[in-house]
Amino acid sequence: MILLSVEGLSKRFGGLLAVDKASMAVPEGSITGLIGPNGAGKTTLFALASGFLEPSAGRVLFAGEDVTAEPPHRRARRGIARTFQIVQPFQGLTVHENIVVGAYLRHAGRQAALDAARAVAEEVGLAPLLETPAAALTVAGRKRLELARALATAPRLLLLDEVLAGLNPSEVRDILPVLRAIRARGVTILMIEHVMQAVMNLCDHVHVLAQGRMIAEGPPRAVCNDAAVIEAYLGHGAAARMRAEEAPMLEIRGLRAGYGGVEVLRGLDMAVSAGEIVAVLGANGVGKTTLNKVLSGVVPVRAGEILFDGQRIDRAAPDAIVAAGLIHVPEGRKIFPNMSVRENLELGSYRRGKPRRARNLERVFATFPACASAWPRPPAPSRAASSRCSPSAAA
Ligand SMILES: Nc1ncnc2c1ncn2[C@@H]1O[C@H](COP(=O)(O)OP(=O)(O)OP(=O)(O)O)[C@@H](O)[C@H]1O
Ligand SMILES: [Mg+2]
Repeated sequence: MILLSVEGLSKRFGGLLAVDKASMAVPEGSITGLIGPNGAGKTTLFALASGFLEPSAGRVLFAGEDVTAEPPHRRARRGIARTFQIVQPFQGLTVHENIVVGAYLRHAGRQAALDAARAVAEEVGLAPLLETPAAALTVAGRKRLELARALATAPRLLLLDEVLAGLNPSEVRDILPVLRAIRARGVTILMIEHVMQAVMNLCDHVHVLAQGRMIAEGPPRAVCNDAAVIEAYLGHGAAARMRAEEAPMLEIRGLRAGYGGVEVLRGLDMAVSAGEIVAVLGANGVGKTTLNKVLSGVVPVRAGEILFDGQRIDRAAPDAIVAAGLIHVPEGRKIFPNMSVRENLELGSYRRGKPRRARNLERVFATFPACASAWPRPPAPSRAASSRCSPSAAA
């Protein structure tokens, strides 16, 4: 049976269509995932499903009944509970008292509500913290409390909005069995999640929202390999780039370099493919800047190879490396503070020849409008009149 279905659901905020004719169905007993890039409309869809927002168009059906016009408390009574992406426990109350707030939906008497809340606390691993003030909980604790409060309403459908966000990998591992056990005792779960390890592990079926629209659905693995999903997450052309298993743009093999008697890079291997952004992480002094300096030819290579676009550049001079198209942005602000923005930019463009220089500068102005306003054109200012721009204004 389909427990929740949304049909052609739209939500407009002024000029923004946050949810755009989205449809999806959540089978009873499933753990269903809802994923999508930031701002896709996932939380808005939850607010529509749980009655916190009214749709601009479309319907919400719960257990086959149209609940579109019902307020949140009626839907909660039917069995829809949600958690909030930004957790907001009642800070002044204990963990137990926070959970009881949910339990009062089903239990009028105080003792019965307290007992129900205690059972939920045990289920989510909060039993040892019942008397702790909510304000004293860690992020992981608050997430569990958010889950517990929703669970205390004895829902049939639990809408979880990023309950794993902000948890470290071992905290995520700890909570996965809790979610599985909740489903095993008959609660259907629809979860918004960015932690893909959890989505892969838990979800039977995943729906993908991007810019308000449902763009894909299917088993988690199939969805993650879907070209439209990859594009939505990683940008235009990403799927093609990932498919093209071409030789890396930059390849480093067995690289050794250092200063005097100190060897900093000791047999480094790495590769960077076209279109990738690769981060190099490491503690202070391990050689990150040295790596950049070696790549740009400023610090000599002692052993190993560097290939850029298939050409060896490990013995090339810095200007030849720049000409090949490998540019190094040094750490710190290595600009010429006594020269104008224009002069600084022109220094970077001399290698390119006149027509290309003009085009490149246009691109710089399009990307960094602050530079354009620091360089009024036309007419081109004389050197004396050209506006000076401090590094922070140019940045
Ligand atoms: N109450 C509101 N008023 C105006 N715009 C809103 C409102 N709520 C959300 N939006 C906008 O609607 C779009 C969808 O937001 P939403 O929070 O639903 O996305 P999301 O998929 O949950 O994103 P995230 O992964 O960052 O949580 C965004 O552009 C957001 O700025
Ligand atoms: Mg959200």
